[in-house]
Formats: sequence, C-alpha cells, structure tokens
Amino acid sequence: MLILGIESSCDDTSVALVNCGEQGHVVISEKTASQIEIHKKYGGVVPEIAGRMHAEKIVPLIEEVTKGHPRPEAIAVTSGPGLVTGLIVGTEAAKTLALAWKIPLIGINHIEGHIHSVEISNNKLLISQNETVKRSDETTQRPITNFPALCLVVSGGHTELILMSDHGDYKILGKTKDDAAGECFDKVAKLLDLPYPGGPKISQLAETGRATAIEFPRPMLGRRSSATHRSEGRLDRDNFDFSFAGLKTSALYWLRDNQLAVTHIQPLPQPAGVFGIQIEPPTINDFCASFETAIVETLIVKTLRAAKYYKPKTIILAGGVSANKKLRLGLEASVLNDVPGCEFRLALPEYCMDNAAMIAVAGYYHALKKDFSNWQTMKVDPNWKIDARSPQSS
Ligand code: KG4
Ligand code: ZN
Repeated sequence: MLILGIESSCDDTSVALVNCGEQGHVVISEKTASQIEIHKKYGGVVPEIAGRMHAEKIVPLIEEVTKGHPRPEAIAVTSGPGLVTGLIVGTEAAKTLALAWKIPLIGINHIEGHIHSVEISNNKLLISQNETVKRSDETTQRPITNFPALCLVVSGGHTELILMSDHGDYKILGKTKDDAAGECFDKVAKLLDLPYPGGPKISQLAETGRATAIEFPRPMLGRRSSATHRSEGRLDRDNFDFSFAGLKTSALYWLRDNQLAVTHIQPLPQPAGVFGIQIEPPTINDFCASFETAIVETLIVKTLRAAKYYKPKTIILAGGVSANKKLRLGLEASVLNDVPGCEFRLALPEYCMDNAAMIAVAGYYHALKKDFSNWQTMKVDPNWKIDARSPQSS
C-alpha cells in the first residue's frame, strides 16, 4: 500500500512516499528540510519561525517527493503532539491533498510514528531503481509482531515508557515529570556553549571522556515500589516516571562550583592524590561522559524495571535520543542479559530523528483497519497523548 507521510511537528519539514506491506516497508522517495541552522542562532526552536519555515517548504517538498510516482492510496500526517505552528501547516496541506486526490486521510500521533521508525528498512535504492547489487549498509527491518512491546521513546520533547499491546493499542506507563531526556541534553549543551541540538555534540565529546569523573545523580531511581505497595499487589506508578530537571540543575551547579569557563576548561589546582598520585581534573569530555552516563543509566534502569513487571516480548527504543550510541548499546546489552528471549528493536540511525517515513508506516496500520480521519473535522492537538483518541472537532 503506497502511503504519503507528512511530518512538521517541530523543526523538520519532512515528506515521504512509502510502500508499506506486511513483510516490511520500503521508502520510495523522501525529502526533509531541516531548520536546525536557523534555530541554532536562538539556542532552540522558535515556534513562530518554525511555522513560517514549514509553510515555505511543505509544497515544494510534496511536489519533489510525489513527482513521477503513482498517486498514494492514503495520506498520513502528524496531528500532534508538537508545536501548533508546525502541526497546522502539515495537516492543512494533507487535508487539501486528500480532498483533491480523493484519498483517505489519517491523523497520526508523533510518538506512534517514532515507535514505527523501527520498521523502516534502508533498501530503498534497490527497489526504486531495480538495482540487483546489494548496498553494503542495507538493512531490512521487519514489522513489529511480538506483543506486548515495551517502548522507550526518548526525544527532545518526550520521554515515555509505553506498553504496546498491538498496532494502535498503547498505554503510557510512565513519562517525564519535567524535562525530556533530549531537552536535558540540549539545555546542558547550551551551558557548555555547544550548538543546538546539543545531544549529538555531548555524546561525541563523551566518547573520549571518563564516565566516572563526576558523580551526577540518577534521578528517581531510588523510588522503588515499597514493601507496602508490593504487599498490596500494586506497583508505585512513579516507578516508571522520569525527571531530568534535577540532573540539569546539578550539572549547572557543578559547572558553577568548579568555575569552568566551560568551553575552555581551566583545571583547578588539585591536591596530591592518594599515595602522591595526581588525580587528573575533569575535562569537558569527562563532564560530557559523566553527564551522558547519568541519563543513559537512568533510562536503562527504568526500562528494565518496567520489563520485569510487564514481561514484554519486544523492547523498542525510539526517538531522537535513541541515536545515542551509549544508550543503543547499553540497552541492547541489558535486554540480552536481564530479559532473555525478549526481542530488542531499534531504528536505523537515519530514522531516529523526526522523519515522514515513520508517520507513513504508522498510518499504514490505521489504513488496514480503515481508521481514517475526516478532513472536515480533523484537528491538531499539541498535547495529544498516545493513549487518547485522535483530536477531532466536535
Ligand atoms: O525525535 P527528535 O528528532 O525530535 C523531537 O521529537 O523532539 O529528537 C531530537 C532530540 C534532540 O533533543 C537531540 O539533542 C536529541 O534528540 N539527540 C541526541 C542524539 N542525537 C539526537 N541526544 C543524545 N545523543 C545523541 N546522539
Ligand atoms: Zn520526534
């Protein structure tokens, strides 16, 4: 089934034409216009500017992606959560096309899109150009079939643990009470004078740092279900929630207390270490490695805790932060060790960040059930929770 996906919920305008099927999905054509260079100047996404940029790009991208290809059978568009200024641009374009082409429209939850990013293969060239030679990096990703699946979705706007009983059937088990993990990476990167988005830069610097150099807190890991709760046969809900604001503050205090003019770290005079061995003062790389480890460990411990309780057959890691190598490798190793027999699913690195292909794939499962949206009543909802009904005007 040929589906056109449209994504414009944050700072990427993305359009993709995807051939979806029960064996897997192949991206026929896709284009993404990133606004990062513009928002960099402001240290974060400016909603007003984002809306204008989406409006400028959306029609040319649709034209480029659809040109020369058969008309899609349905259009899937992100209708929430996200920035209202961007969501409106994408959904209005999708409504117009659905009406003009007389094809069904599907409003997709952005988080549901991220979960389905793990199903996207990168063998598009093979199919679209009839190539017979395999690309060396070709990876075929299969649809998610082993349920229940426990999904950790970590991005700039979200940190959620979701139990997926089937395609389209989700329950939020826990979420961040304040900053999202990606937001925490981005805000701490700003303290370090690193460019937006800071997550990739912090993880790059962390590669050559010492993860044990600075002891940052692991937020909300102490709140295990109490004996009382267990004896009552229920689990403390907070167990699966996250909080990253405290970690961000502790990073801020550490930088202040150590008087680090961050980009040019000045080592403080160090006392002679034990037996006269000099302990190296932390560098910016050590700071990044210690900070990254605190976030990654927190995410892994919480996910394993939920896995012990819900006994999923699949664990899925998705969202922009899932591009983080330490998190990818760390969670994979932990699943292998602690949840034997459980399948572990990751998106290919090029599909971790916001993209329209994941929206098309999520749309495919709604199309199978003929779960379509009405262009006259479909609304956007900047706060749409994945386990709530899709936004429609009454
Ligand atoms: O999913 P996404 O593209 O947009 C949202 O829906 O928010 O995620 C973007 C987020 C940013 O906060 C960015 O810093 C973070 O993903 N990110 C990373 C890495 N790559 C992207 N965070 C940590 N390590 C990375 N390698
Ligand atoms: Zn996203």
